[in-house]
Amino acid sequence: MQRKSFWILVCAFLYLSLPAASAQTANKPVDAEGHQWWQHAVFYEIYPRSFADGNNDGVGDLKGITSKLGYLKDLGVDAIWISPCFPSPQVDFGYDVSDYENIDPMYGTLADFDTMASEAKKHGIRIILDFVVNHSSDQHKWFLDSKSSRTSEHRDWYIWRDGKGPGQPPNNWTSTFGGSAWKFDPTTNQYYYHFFYAEQPDLNWRNPAVKDAMFDVTRWWYKHGVSGFRLDAVDTLFEDPNLHDNPVRPGKNAFGDPFEENKYNTKLPEVHEALRGLRKVTDENNGVLIGETWTADIAELNLYYGKGNDELQMPMDFLFTTVNKLSPADFRKQIAAVDSASGWPTFVISNHDIIRSYDRYGDGQHNDQIAKLMAGLYLTLRGTPIMYYGEEIGMKTTPPSRKEEVKDPIGRTGWPKEKGRDGERTPMQWDESDNAGFSTVAPWLPVPPTAKTHNVADESKDPESVLAFYKRVLKLRHTNRALLDGSYVPLNENDQNVLSYLRAYKDQAVLVALNMSGTEQKVNFDMSKNGFSSAKPLAVTGKSSAKGDVVTLEPYGVFIGQLAK
Ligand code: NOJ
Repeated sequence: MQRKSFWILVCAFLYLSLPAASAQTANKPVDAEGHQWWQHAVFYEIYPRSFADGNNDGVGDLKGITSKLGYLKDLGVDAIWISPCFPSPQVDFGYDVSDYENIDPMYGTLADFDTMASEAKKHGIRIILDFVVNHSSDQHKWFLDSKSSRTSEHRDWYIWRDGKGPGQPPNNWTSTFGGSAWKFDPTTNQYYYHFFYAEQPDLNWRNPAVKDAMFDVTRWWYKHGVSGFRLDAVDTLFEDPNLHDNPVRPGKNAFGDPFEENKYNTKLPEVHEALRGLRKVTDENNGVLIGETWTADIAELNLYYGKGNDELQMPMDFLFTTVNKLSPADFRKQIAAVDSASGWPTFVISNHDIIRSYDRYGDGQHNDQIAKLMAGLYLTLRGTPIMYYGEEIGMKTTPPSRKEEVKDPIGRTGWPKEKGRDGERTPMQWDESDNAGFSTVAPWLPVPPTAKTHNVADESKDPESVLAFYKRVLKLRHTNRALLDGSYVPLNENDQNVLSYLRAYKDQAVLVALNMSGTEQKVNFDMSKNGFSSAKPLAVTGKSSAKGDVVTLEPYGVFIGQLAK
């Protein structure tokens, strides 16, 4: 770069304090910048079926999670988001909730939950629950009553309509999981609406009783010690009451349905009013709301923070996961966009619905190195990261090879185009024993062969492992002031191979340089000219190093260093 302009930029940022985010919340800040606890925290998603099996029946559970709190603390996790563990027929593995205020016996009891919560508190780990707001299970007592008659107490808690004619659903909306989004129910001769599986009828959020009942659910869990919620599928909360047909594009999706633009059944403005209401309850409980927000751009993301930062504190930035190649230019663009958003950035690179980051970015040869590179990136940005279990040991997506093995229903209806989400939900790899230390019996999904090479026990002993690097970077992000509070200053913006930036706070700065290429790179940052001595390494991979003004990065190498005057 443009060295002069780079350092002018640096100086301009160095003495700037960050604006206090979420100033509206009455909760106690954790630093001089007014940041809330969740802005300093590292979140970690646990898919409970697959994390740790406490009762050895092949399915993970709450006792299993409790037994691993020490591991999580040591890793550097401050909050765990547990995917749904409520009573459920498990059609969508818990995202079909039949009782919002209890625990599925498969995962344990409410007493087990309370034990987990109090143990987590002792470890300084907060609990975030997954709140499935858009729909319940068709076995929920609300729906059973709703379908029983047109005049039942809960009839209007779901969305019922007459068909257009015999055998014809009310409109052309299709379920995102395949087929019509309407299911005919002969008891009352009407159709009910389901954006997801037919076993997941949509709640009618236009009914104030639904809203109140759902807000009460959160109050109930706050009393059990939770610190907030990840809101499932918020985009789909409201539908056009006039049921306009959605526009259709040519072609068919994996389920054989026409491509449809969800114009009339997603992202309706009414969502925001509901979120503002939920946020009030959240603030009364010092909680945090994380959103499953699939936004098209930052303007849409901004809507979820709310005009007065009064909706979601942490709408997830999935746009980051759409940068699906190691391209410094693309990442730069996306980081700059989210850094300029109206609220605090929330970074996600993997979860239970999408291919793991290990495979998204891996080239098949340097995957471990690239896994460290991605950690070096998203754990050092200004914003809160949400990790996904197993990411820290380099777990690989392992999809089923035959249709008969598929557990996730969409993998069966969409096979082979859509293989479902089993591949990213395989058991956590704790050690290299047969069931990877997850259970003493065969787990509900097979253990991937990579458990022999990528597991917690072995990686804990290896200072060069993916796990060791995650730990190093996570420790830094908890202790380094510039990483906690500093602004993001992009450097060398024309470099095609190396993504680099500063995190700058008052008179401190951390330099992050990430080589996204398979060849060694040397980058001159001109530090001495501008009054900084060479960068002192804080976390580096392999032989990456700094000498004078020059940082040398091995292929896919990471250099994170403190700049000192
Ligand atoms: C989003 C969840 O992440 C996914 O796993 C689930 O199938 C749908 N919402 C429906 O709840």
